[in-house]
Amino acid sequence: MNNIALDKKLMFIALKEAKRGIPYVYPNPAVGCVIYDGSKILSTGYHKKFGENHAEHEAIKNLDEMVKGLTMYVSLEPCTHTGKTGACFDLIDPEVFDRVVIAEKDPNSEASGSIEKLKKRGIKVDLGLLKHEARKLNKRFYVFHEKKRPYVILKYASTLDGFIAQENGYSKWITNEKSRKENHFTRSICDAILIGSNTARIDNPDLGSHGCGRDPKIVLIDFDNALGSLDLFKKKPIVYSSPELSNDAGKNINFIMNDLYKKNIQSLLVEGGAKTISNFLNFEIFDELHCYVAPKFLGKGLNIFQGENSIEKNYNLELVDTKMIGDDLKIVYKKSYT
Ligand SMILES: NC(=O)c1ccc[n+]([C@@H]2O[C@H](COP(=O)([O-])OP(=O)(O)OC[C@H]3O[C@@H](n4cnc5c(N)ncnc54)[C@H](OP(=O)(O)O)[C@@H]3O)[C@@H](O)[C@H]2O)c1
Repeated sequence: MNNIALDKKLMFIALKEAKRGIPYVYPNPAVGCVIYDGSKILSTGYHKKFGENHAEHEAIKNLDEMVKGLTMYVSLEPCTHTGKTGACFDLIDPEVFDRVVIAEKDPNSEASGSIEKLKKRGIKVDLGLLKHEARKLNKRFYVFHEKKRPYVILKYASTLDGFIAQENGYSKWITNEKSRKENHFTRSICDAILIGSNTARIDNPDLGSHGCGRDPKIVLIDFDNALGSLDLFKKKPIVYSSPELSNDAGKNINFIMNDLYKKNIQSLLVEGGAKTISNFLNFEIFDELHCYVAPKFLGKGLNIFQGENSIEKNYNLELVDTKMIGDDLKIVYKKSYT
């Protein structure tokens, strides 16, 4: 095996280690580490739980003895901040480690900066190996810190001809029970769920995860502050109204994203209705689309997309998954940032 192939193999092991910490490390990123002596793996480690040791700390702790000339493979830049457990950078002794291979930089400015510091200590640093895989593993964390907004998933359930409700607003239910259960799980792994005022008024939805896990925080756009009597107010939603909001839908979304970022909301599921989802689509503020399609035709009603595009309009969507759920189809697209 050549050196590059060997590096890749070891970084893959570090990434596999990292995955073991999901979802327990949240809101921290999942990180894995491998320590290699030039002929064999001496130890591995991963960040197991929020507030506990980071991956590098675990791997160093798992070493039988400190010997010279080791290489560390780590899926995220070692942190420099003392935080809850001390800076990982301080543990990387140049008397022990000759080389550190890092998949990707830490986007969190409070934790980053170790690469130059390691080099100054005389340690060789290689950055970017399996960067794509490392970013994918912590995609929500990267979007949150780099774009300074939550990772946004737009979700809707439609007929085969693209309708999400009848003309009279009735939409319960378009998709089957299993599809809805699948989305309840998605709710349980998102920090917050956002709906527009018409959906709140017409559906009076619960927006919980129905036993699939924790409930997301509810976020409501209630421009006129007129929905206070709805049941979902018992769950103390975050409400955005006038005068915080203006008549500019794009500015409003940016305002909401910025505010949710400040509130440390790392992931947001947008569940409609059509106007709300269309605003996110139009201003291209989203990362994933979850479309649940049922074998029904309505002919008229509320179409998911409220706007007007030409066929040439390109949202740069990449198909990442399709899943049959009974007779329904779940389609997942991801926004391509290139
Ligand atoms: N099948 C599904 O997946 C699904 C999911 C959810 C809802 N639905 C159906 O969809 C229907 C409701 O959808 P809808 O399109 O009529 O309304 P909606 O998207 O629920 O709510 C739209 C309203 O929310 C406010 N809003 C949304 N984005 C805004 C922004 N960026 N800035 C300011 N205000 C914003 C505006 O309120 P103001 O007009 O007060 O300013 C807007 O009129 C219901 O029939 C519901 O059953 C279906």
